[in-house]
Amino acid sequence: NEHEKKYNIEWVNIPFTKHKIFTCNNFYLPEFCAKHLENFKNFQIRNSDIWIVSFPKSGTTWVQELVYLIENECDFKKAQQDSIENRSPFFDYPSPGLKHIDNIKSRRIIKTHLPISFLPDNIENESKVIYIVRNPKDVTVSYFHFTNLSTQAQFTGSFYDFAKLFIDGKVPYGPWWKHVDEYVSRKNVHVISYEDLHTRPYEVIKNLSEYLGKSLSDEKIKSIIEWCSFDNMKNNPSVNYEWYKELGLYKKSGNFFRKGKIGDWLNHFAMEDSKQIDEIVEKNLKTDIKFNYGIS
Ligand code: A3P
Repeated sequence: NEHEKKYNIEWVNIPFTKHKIFTCNNFYLPEFCAKHLENFKNFQIRNSDIWIVSFPKSGTTWVQELVYLIENECDFKKAQQDSIENRSPFFDYPSPGLKHIDNIKSRRIIKTHLPISFLPDNIENESKVIYIVRNPKDVTVSYFHFTNLSTQAQFTGSFYDFAKLFIDGKVPYGPWWKHVDEYVSRKNVHVISYEDLHTRPYEVIKNLSEYLGKSLSDEKIKSIIEWCSFDNMKNNPSVNYEWYKELGLYKKSGNFFRKGKIGDWLNHFAMEDSKQIDEIVEKNLKTDIKFNYGIS
């Protein structure tokens, strides 16, 4: 059809999964994005918008909850009352949809995994853009487990089959290195790392609130850290995505809040094989980032 031609969309079959993906501008995107590329690009952004952006499985949900609390002056009660999806809608997915997001009156906290080249031009200068990075070995592991949890992806391959796809860039929103490069090279994007959130949460949250124009007391920052600990979020029904099981989107076994650690890749990759990821970081990733792999 015309739209697909205009955007040079090509459908690709990926082994081991029922997920349909397509290529466009050298990225692989999920099927549900295909019809909306024009609407994504033309979306009316606001100065007050806060965009939470990441390659999938980099700690998006964690940062969504942090940002919501920063923005709402630690109103934990309010945070508890509604799902994270409603408080911070997913831009890419047809539900709740762009019309819905367009109609939100208050300051918007919008989640997206889209590469920056698919978003409205100049987005990082006209609104706030927060980008989360996580070391690619743990991203691969987390993405593999997530692909198993999702009833839609129905991944039937092994961890190595998945890792191979990740290394080839052929996973939804891949290639990972291109995604990271696009964002971290933009001047006004506020970059935070999953590992820093683990090792020095106070500093990360303080900087994040300053970027959002808020000044939080030490006490408030500490209460946010506590509220957003892995165990607390895992047991919090407004953020733990347990409702996806009722909706049939996740299998009953397994959890969205899986491990939440730095270095779980050591339990999945043989040292020798993880070298392929080191090569990607060395050869494909243009930005010089020192990743924390959880080994000293
Ligand atoms: P694991 O699969 O390694 O456990 P996203 O929100 O981008 O989908 O990322 C999900 C990953 O972030 C999962 O990683 C999840 O456990 C982890 N995560 C979510 N909240 C966390 C928290 N409060 N502390 C530590 N890790 C968290």
